Amino acid sequence: MTLQDQHVLITGGSSGIGLELGRQAAAAGARVSLVARDSAKLAAARAAIHAAQPAAADVVIVSADVAIEAEILAALQAAERVHGPVDVLITSAGIARPGYFEEVPVAVFERTMAVNYFGTLYPLKAVVPGMRRRGRGAVVLISSGAGLVGLFGYTPYAPSKFALRGLAEALRGELKSTGVSVTIVYPPDTDTPQLVEENLTKPVETKALTAGGGLWTAEAVARVTLAGVQRGRFAITPGFQLTALAWLHSVIAPVLNWSFDRIARKARRGAATGSP
Ligand SMILES: NC(=O)c1ccc[n+]([C@@H]2O[C@H](COP(=O)([O-])OP(=O)(O)OC[C@H]3O[C@@H](n4cnc5c(N)ncnc54)[C@H](OP(=O)(O)O)[C@@H]3O)[C@@H](O)[C@H]2O)c1
Repeated sequence: MTLQDQHVLITGGSSGIGLELGRQAAAAGARVSLVARDSAKLAAARAAIHAAQPAAADVVIVSADVAIEAEILAALQAAERVHGPVDVLITSAGIARPGYFEEVPVAVFERTMAVNYFGTLYPLKAVVPGMRRRGRGAVVLISSGAGLVGLFGYTPYAPSKFALRGLAEALRGELKSTGVSVTIVYPPDTDTPQLVEENLTKPVETKALTAGGGLWTAEAVARVTLAGVQRGRFAITPGFQLTALAWLHSVIAPVLNWSFDRIARKARRGAATGSP
């Protein structure tokens, strides 16, 4: 599929990966809608896209909390009143609050699942029937490397991103042959405001474990994502490490756990003695 003249709606489109997806989709000729909570951030995102793409179709912005079904449904309707039915839904809204399991309140587990999982499910449930009727469309779920392997410090986040994997895999089968494609993206660490926020509560062990994965730009993650979506790819794993992980995870899990435990032990000892 091509993005030209398609209505591309992005939740979490005011920042980071979502904003970059919006910018690149607009550059490819799409009619873009962005959904997030903070209206000021949304307005700044729209201005940034128009500044970069003066010829782009008007970017629609709608404020909604994806974890509240009525709000995201109203946002979808508002965007569709301007740009018509959603052709490509990208669910990038997400939160991550790492920490040691015993120290993270249950409310954080609940909120993470509400935003990352149900905040993806609600808009999917709303757009898929219309896409199926029209015999065309694409849904794109932004998971994470933490949706492929459970990492130290990510006990609230990893399950929410694993849940997206289960949803995408099950839905892929149901939508096969309907003309509606399902894509799931597993980005590695990406330089965005979310990562800055995460680093505030990340245990030293988590920092040591994720350090080896390198740091991607939102621009690069968005480019790989949109290229994969246009080719109808199901799973998108930016970079060699996540691609290998996606293919081999179950086979190499014992070795992976051994290596992760070693890195975590070293990081903990380093933090205790003050040595790197
Ligand atoms: N950055 C990374 O290293 C990384 C790695 C792997 C996967 N990811 C995933 O990629 C996605 C985008 O992350 P990012 O790093 O680009 O984050 P980001 O820069 O913090 O952007 C997150 C976006 O989601 C919106 N959002 C958050 N909670 C929301 C809610 N309840 N309802 C509606 N919108 C909400 C935010 O706007 P408001 O706060 O105004 O609502 C913002 O637009 C997330 O799903 C994240 O888990 C990120």
